[in-house]
Amino acid sequence: MLSREEIQYLRNKVLEKAGIDLSYYKENQLQRRLPFIMSRAGAKSVEEYVKLLDENPQVLEDFKNRFAINVSEFFRNPERYEDLKNKVLPEIMKGTSLILKIWSAGCSVGSEPYSLAIVLEEIPHRIPYRIWATDIDEDAIEKAKEGVYTEDFLHNVPASYLAKYFQPVSGGKYAVAPQLKKRIVFEKHDLLRDEVKETFSLVVCRNVIIYFENEAKRIAFEKMSNALQDGGYLWVGSTERITDPSSLGLHYVLPFFYRKGR
Ligand SMILES: C[S@@+](CC[C@H](N)C(=O)[O-])C[C@H]1O[C@@H](n2cnc3c(N)ncnc32)[C@H](O)[C@@H]1O
Repeated sequence: MLSREEIQYLRNKVLEKAGIDLSYYKENQLQRRLPFIMSRAGAKSVEEYVKLLDENPQVLEDFKNRFAINVSEFFRNPERYEDLKNKVLPEIMKGTSLILKIWSAGCSVGSEPYSLAIVLEEIPHRIPYRIWATDIDEDAIEKAKEGVYTEDFLHNVPASYLAKYFQPVSGGKYAVAPQLKKRIVFEKHDLLRDEVKETFSLVVCRNVIIYFENEAKRIAFEKMSNALQDGGYLWVGSTERITDPSSLGLHYVLPFFYRKGR
């Protein structure tokens, strides 16, 4: 457990060295994340960690990656979205007759579930769908619900989608169309602690477990696998891999996609 003074000291140092303003993060969030990040770097005290930040560029890089926790964008890794549209969704739709249920776990400020909704809207003769979008971070969920983004943030969104699914609002920003919003339920939910009450055809959890240590990864993957219907798919981030998918009842299908059961 770090003291208030230690957290404040680290905040100042990190702003100075990494340009990351931790005052945005709640103290309990810092309490949870900082000791983990420090111990991964092999530091036993705040002083030791600050010294490492100074001396070892890798430690600084690791901090940036791990602490840019809400980093997200629309259509992140566009080629993976192509796989989703052309290879995975057709398979899922074969086995789904009523409503296609998707869980976007660790949805950050909403770019992921809104991108998924756009892909689904664009499928000819699509079936109804619903997306449960969750994140542990209440501020991120509030932003996601609001659905208003700067043009910069939408750089991956093709112009035709921008025209179709967003409305310009004041300050050069864009608001997500109600047509997408009504398909998504945003909710604060901790992937590691909270219950999941339904099952889904597709669980999307990208660039989330990268922040977890091994036991937490296992808990998260188990929860996601249990939340999948038979034949359902799990989509993970481009730096994430499940080492032993069969122990979770999953098998590898194509890069970053795993299928449950058959
Ligand atoms: C880097 S963002 C990834 C956002 C999005 N999935 C993407 O790939 O663009 C990671 C998100 O995971 C969330 N997160 C971290 N731990 C979580 C947990 N235990 N339960 C739910 N969300 C969590 C963070 O709050 C953050 O918004």
